Amino acid sequence: MKTLAWIIALTIAISVFYGQVSRGAKTPASKDSASSATTDKSPMPQVVAQCASCHGENGVSNTRYVPHLAGQRRSYLMSQLRAFHDNTRRNPGMHAVTMPLSEKSIEDIAAYYWAQGQIERDNTDGGSSVNLDEKLAELVAKCDRCHEPNEYNQDAIQQYPILAGQRREYLAHEMRDFQSKHMRDNQMMYAMTDLLIGEEVDTLAAYYENRRSADRVGSR
Ligand code: HEC
Ligand code: HEC
Repeated sequence: MKTLAWIIALTIAISVFYGQVSRGAKTPASKDSASSATTDKSPMPQVVAQCASCHGENGVSNTRYVPHLAGQRRSYLMSQLRAFHDNTRRNPGMHAVTMPLSEKSIEDIAAYYWAQGQIERDNTDGGSSVNLDEKLAELVAKCDRCHEPNEYNQDAIQQYPILAGQRREYLAHEMRDFQSKHMRDNQMMYAMTDLLIGEEVDTLAAYYENRRSADRVGSR
């Protein structure tokens, strides 16, 4: 774990340095973004150039354990950036990158990524290629009460992350973090992940990666 923390810290140092030198003058959101129709709404804050080395251009991650940010809900993104900054979500790499961020840049970054829209992926099939047993099918209905738009969560939904389309390795990693109860502080997610045993975590992660959220930019 220590080695990983060092690698992350080093990558950040390098990417911050080169980000300023070579990406500083980059033009906003390129045409091949996840949803080019919406990119004009939120100009790319300069600081986002530093995030691309890990989270990908426009927030579409090419790295297994690094989450996509494109199309993620705004309030959720802001809450996580603040949590990394305050170390209540404990990740040394993300703590380092969020330390210098002002409240204004946190808002701009969240608006920018949300406006990128969800990732269109060829293999998104409604989750149907992953077989859920009765227990997991019942659980997914519970997960969706918070994570997907519905009649119960209209006011709170912006606080909950979209899971559908997110990288499966990342989703599984986060569920195990909640199970261990020392990386992120959230009682609801502690309770939910306590219900999962062993590989059920990976099954649910694969299921959500294959699904498409009903929540789309512009639809709410
Ligand atoms: C060195 C690689 C790296 C860089 C650079 C980086 N991140 Fe991250 N980011 C990560 C990793 C790894 C995670 C997952 C952390 C975890 O497991 O808790 C993450 C998580 C996040 C999350 C939480 C997403 C979620 O779904 O909960 C947000 C938001 C985020 N990063 C935003 C940013 C922003 C904004 C920048 C640029 C200012 C940035 N990151 C730069 C590696 C990086
Ligand atoms: C009562 C509401 C609620 C329910 C039910 C719920 N979650 Fe969550 N979930 C949350 C909240 C809130 C967060 C953000 C926690 C934080 O800020 O650290 C979250 C975060 C997550 C994350 C991290 C995503 C990311 O981008 O970092 C995963 C994965 C997740 N939930 C999976 C599930 C699964 C699977 C279920 C069902 C077994 C479930 N959740 C049920 C509220 C809920």
